[in-house]
Formats: sequence, structure tokens, C-alpha cells
Amino acid sequence: MRNIAILGFGVVGGGVAELITKNKREVEALGGDEIYIKYILDLRDFPDSPFADRVIHDYNIIVSDPEIDTVIEVMGGSHPAYEFTVSALKAGKNVITSNKEVVANFGDEFMALAEENGVCYRFEAAVGGGIPVLSPIISCIKQNKISEVRGILNGTTNYILTKMFSLGDTFEDSLADAQAKGYAERNPDADILGIDASRKIAILGALVTGKLVPTEKIHTEGITGVRAEDVKAAEKVGLKIKLLGRCITDGESISVTVAPFMLSSDEPLSNVSGVYNAVEVVGEPIKSVMFYGPGAGAGPTASAVVGDLMEIMRSGRSYAVPTMVKDGSCVRDFGDFECRSYVAMTGVCPECVKDAFGEVQYIAADGECAFLTSSMKEAEAEAAISALTAKGGALKSRIRLL
Ligand code: HSE
Repeated sequence: MRNIAILGFGVVGGGVAELITKNKREVEALGGDEIYIKYILDLRDFPDSPFADRVIHDYNIIVSDPEIDTVIEVMGGSHPAYEFTVSALKAGKNVITSNKEVVANFGDEFMALAEENGVCYRFEAAVGGGIPVLSPIISCIKQNKISEVRGILNGTTNYILTKMFSLGDTFEDSLADAQAKGYAERNPDADILGIDASRKIAILGALVTGKLVPTEKIHTEGITGVRAEDVKAAEKVGLKIKLLGRCITDGESISVTVAPFMLSSDEPLSNVSGVYNAVEVVGEPIKSVMFYGPGAGAGPTASAVVGDLMEIMRSGRSYAVPTMVKDGSCVRDFGDFECRSYVAMTGVCPECVKDAFGEVQYIAADGECAFLTSSMKEAEAEAAISALTAKGGALKSRIRLL
């Protein structure tokens, strides 16, 4: 019998308890043992829940109970998730989490602690919700020379961008709709400013490169600057706009970015719509592999959490990677990032644009000058825009091309 404790009885915690209960036969057959949810930690009481008698408010009961084998932390946030995870691992308990913030901030420390204490730390649900992506990358494709892992890692922003494309809605209207449907938080900043995606690309990058890049070293832009005019311009040249997390590596240095990118319809990520997520791994000799599925929600996230529990019960293993190390020194200067750009400006003439950017591909636009540049370094693109603004131009938008 495996006794487990769930920390947090919100959407994900409720989903985990429900999955373990409803799919008892499948779960126990795969895990090879019975599972009993002994405690659920929450600040609230749930008198109408079938788990009402297991709800407790004191974490010390869990960490000091020798019968508890595995702690499932689905509270979110860095604190007290950090303190609870450390004490559970030190007490010899496996820890599973869906909490991308705590993994992005402290995953290196947790993996080392798990190793030291002979227990497991797993976090499949922290990236891509229900998509099995972390384990397959490590177990099935890490033997490739991986040059990039990139993805649509935030369902809320993908829903907003999809609406802007399919209905021509503004960012503000699309955000209000996402909030009404319960996809976006009431305070949606972590989603729309790219913070959530930056945590997820930090985790993906760490599994591929072994280096956990501090999120403050990740160049992060959200989607608040994407305008209906940009969507129209993209459509005219057959491009879509997606918020991508990208971790590019040459085996030594790493470039990690979260920003809106324009993608051609040939790119597999361009067809990922609505609240869905996808992760693409590019490498040799595999070329490109994409994982696709629901990136959030009680059921899908619970599926990933319980998958980790099955893995721990079957193999007693964390991830088959050398310990990841927190390292910001390997991060390449963003000024060296090289790509094509879409630029929209007012108050510029074709001669000035040519002087600043060289030959460009113009896109017909009402009241502004919109064009696609050739590939150039970030620092060069910024210098070209500065040269145009110095001559009276005004930048309306700039979106990089994948
Ligand atoms: N807010 C996140 C999203 C939830 O929209 O993708 C899942 O991590």
C-alpha cells in the first residue's frame, strides 16, 4: 500500500484525487500496488467532499508521518511550496509537482536533494499540462544532438492569439473572453507577459542542456503589444503569430527567449490553436519531433501527475538526467540573437528604410509602413530602428520571424 498526501485541493489537487479514485483499477494495475490518499493539505475545509475526512491544515502531520511515501505538491507559487518540498525530500518522501514556478526557481536544488536522500522528484505536469513531454525527451530523444527545444507553452495566450486571428478581435476583447471562459486568471499578468512560458522554457532547456537558466536571464516579452493590425499584416503574407518559448543551444552556450514570433504555415507549431500547447524538439539525426496536447486543466494535469506516481511506483526513479545546475553564465547575449523581423512604423520613407535595413519586403498596410527585414542580429535591428526614429519615425510594432 502506498500512502500519499496531496498539498493543495484546488483544480489540480481535486483532479488528482478524482483520477486516482475513478481510475483506481488502471492506476493500481500500472503502479503495482494499492494507493491510499491519506491526507489532503489545504487552508480550507471541504465538508461536502468525499475526501472531507482527509483534509488537514498542518503540514507537519504529513512530513512526520512515516507511512507517507509520496507528497504531491499542487499548490502553485514558490512559497511555501519550496519549504514543503525540501522538508518532504529530507524526510525521505518522493515529491511530485505540477508547479512550474517552484521547479524553474529551485528544480536544481530539489533534484540534488532527492538524489542525496534516495527518493524521487518528478514534475511532468509542470510543462505542457497533460502532454507527456519531459520523460519522452529524456528517455527517447536526448541521444540526438539537440539544437533547439521550442514550444507554445501557454494555453491562455495561444487562445487569445487564435481569437485575434480567427475573429479579427483585439487583444483586449480576446483577453476578456479568455477570462470569461476561465482560461486566464483574474490577474492574467503571468500569462500575457510571458512569465509562465519563461518558467516552462527554463525547465525544458534544463532537461536538454543540464543548465537551469535563471528566469531573469531569459529575454521575455508577452503578447500585450500584438495589435489587430499586426494580425492583418501577418495574414497578408501567410504567417501566424504565436508566443514561443525557445531554447537554442550549440552544446556550449544557450539562448533562451520568450516572445511572439511570426511563423509560416509550414511550421508544425503554426497549426496549434486555442488552449492547446505543443513542444517541438529539433536535433540530429531526428530532425523535428512535436508533442501536442492539452496544456492545462484538471484532468490533463492530473494525468501527468499520476503518470509520475506510476513511474515512481514502477521504477523508483527521478529523471534519467545528470543533476541540473543553475547557470546563467552560459546564456548568450540577446544582442546576438539572429532572425528576420516584421516591423511596422509611421513617419518613415522607403529611402530611409532602405538605408537602415537594406532591402525589405513591404506589406500593404493602412496608414503605416510595414515590412519584413532580412535576417539580422538583434543589436543591428535595434540600431536600424533607432536610426529611423532619430529621423522622426515612430515604431508601432516589431515581431520576430521564426
Ligand atoms: N496559465 C497556464 C496556461 C496554465 O494558460 O497555460 C497551465 O500552466
